Amino acid sequence: MTSGAHPQVTVGTGAAGGPEKGLLRFLTCGSVDDGKSTLIGRLLYDTRLILDDQLAALERDSRKHGTTGEELDLALLVDGLQAEREQGITIDVAYRFFSTPRRAFIVADTPGHEQYTRNMATGASNSQAAVILIDARKGVLTQTRRHSYICSLLGIKHVVLAVNKIDLADYSGERFHHIVGDYLGFAQALEFSSITPIPLSARYGDNVIHRSGHMRWYEGPTLIEHLEALDVTEGLDEKPMRFPVQWVNRPNLDFRGFSGTVASGVVRPGDRVVVAGSGRESAVARIVAADGDLAEARAGDAVTLTLTEEVDIARGDVLAHSHERPEVVDQFAAQVLWMIEEPMLPGRSYLMRIGTRFVPARVTSLKHKTDVNTLEHIAARTLAINEIGFCNLGTASPVAFDPYGENHGTGAFVLIDRFTYQTAGAGMISFGLRRATNIHRQALLVDKAVRTRLNGHRPAILWFTGLSGSGKSTIANIVERELHVLGAHTYMLDGDNVRHGLNRDLGFTDADRVENIRRVGEVARLFVDAGAIVLCSFISPFRAERRMVRELVEVGEFIEIFVDTPIEECQRRDPKGLYARALAGKIKHFTGIDSPYEVPESAEIVLETGSGPEQAAQRVLDALRERHIIG
Ligand code: ADX
Repeated sequence: MTSGAHPQVTVGTGAAGGPEKGLLRFLTCGSVDDGKSTLIGRLLYDTRLILDDQLAALERDSRKHGTTGEELDLALLVDGLQAEREQGITIDVAYRFFSTPRRAFIVADTPGHEQYTRNMATGASNSQAAVILIDARKGVLTQTRRHSYICSLLGIKHVVLAVNKIDLADYSGERFHHIVGDYLGFAQALEFSSITPIPLSARYGDNVIHRSGHMRWYEGPTLIEHLEALDVTEGLDEKPMRFPVQWVNRPNLDFRGFSGTVASGVVRPGDRVVVAGSGRESAVARIVAADGDLAEARAGDAVTLTLTEEVDIARGDVLAHSHERPEVVDQFAAQVLWMIEEPMLPGRSYLMRIGTRFVPARVTSLKHKTDVNTLEHIAARTLAINEIGFCNLGTASPVAFDPYGENHGTGAFVLIDRFTYQTAGAGMISFGLRRATNIHRQALLVDKAVRTRLNGHRPAILWFTGLSGSGKSTIANIVERELHVLGAHTYMLDGDNVRHGLNRDLGFTDADRVENIRRVGEVARLFVDAGAIVLCSFISPFRAERRMVRELVEVGEFIEIFVDTPIEECQRRDPKGLYARALAGKIKHFTGIDSPYEVPESAEIVLETGSGPEQAAQRVLDALRERHIIG
């Protein structure tokens, strides 16, 4: 692949003869009135694949909604949703199928409306080529640039620049060449391998299927000729072999196979293979498929491999040839496209699915976000829905990957919200940041178990969460006093205090609160390792971060204590006068006022108000005895 080189700009005749090409998936992108739906309608109509009954309905609807006088409104063929018709915009990705004697096509029709970057990316991720529509009267617009950037980001290599409505520009060659010049000016940077400009009129059918009699100056292919001839073979077979293991297939004691789909390359019996993560080697014994053993399996083939020597392999592992291994890292840089309303927060733990592997991951830093209209880099702390950012990510354990530019199959991932299981973001790995294999943990002679024995009690994190003024610090203080009397080793981490030192640089935005708790969690973990009982008193408004701290230590070591004081009571107490100021609008992002608090769903201890802090502290101490943390 010619990354970095200038794209090939097709001029002159591009398509004649040639063998049957197989399926082509492409997407169309354009703004609301570029005539995208009309173009797709034209393709469907002229390729004579419109069913008769659809045609009859179309004639009826044209009379009802039509904007084209007595002619059929081809846009109505594809603007299937009622809402779209009424608003005149397209709001979701729709797939259409059509074919010619030479090739079958699936076209993804993606919305042109500004906020639908996400849908466009969904369409683009399955497409091999993009038809970018431009209104000949308007030329290259901001959204032309945006669509092109997203296509390039998602690895689309072939672009057709469909300069539409050329009839309304007097079929002018000069206008066409001017637009093409403009487009090539900025698209050079986007690493497409081919850009093919075609002047056309979707409405009248010029240069869509049939050559136009109005543009003698144009000698290139019609749209369909070009799409029929376009060579999109990605060369997946020539890439290094990658086999992400979907599941370990063990029907009986005599058979142990690894099932999955070859992501790239070719594998044959006898090949030396390695488990990317562990580096363990073996050789392929058999390739088992539904109809019996195979002599080879290629990209896209679903098979079961058996190996000559038994090595440890689990679901999510990647098998590769020993001489062509993927990178294995736990830190890398990637482009991330955010897809849910809730913003992406650096520091928060998401579930990453990469290949067949699921692993906890977090964005460790957001380098910048990209203005998809101008391609400018903008400093940012979070990503909102439809935004694209360049991030560093860290995973809980090393993962095998190839850069997305080299291999789409092993370089793409999604981030999943750990509570809702929604797909929150889509990512494309640019490069690894550090080989995980270079960093080893130092083995220590004195460990937690030894320290615990010396202390005479078990270590724990007592995590007090609740609104400001709920009484967290007061209760935690009493608990610590009592533990001290009992001779326990304790330490107190308190929100206000930690924010004077370690976390002095953090404020109260969602992103800062996530980072606040992440750091405190790491410190608390060190105290647990030291054998201490560490009392942490933080609003910690988000479930995700409380759970993250819980997962840092062993089961039973994290005790969540919800100080459940109603906000009215906290406001009444208002020990620091902060509620009054927040209500007066003088403090922004105040928890419970204009910043959320997510109530714990499964706290070990819930302390309701009423009985007073001394009694609340006693309940905590009782719970610690029950759990054998203290004697
Ligand atoms: S947390 O949300 O990040 O966990 P933390 O517990 O560290 O917050 O700090 C909360 C304390 O900071 C509150 O008890 C209060 O004294 C003070 N504070 C100042 N501004 C705010 C604010 N906007 N929201 C909440 N607490 C604030």
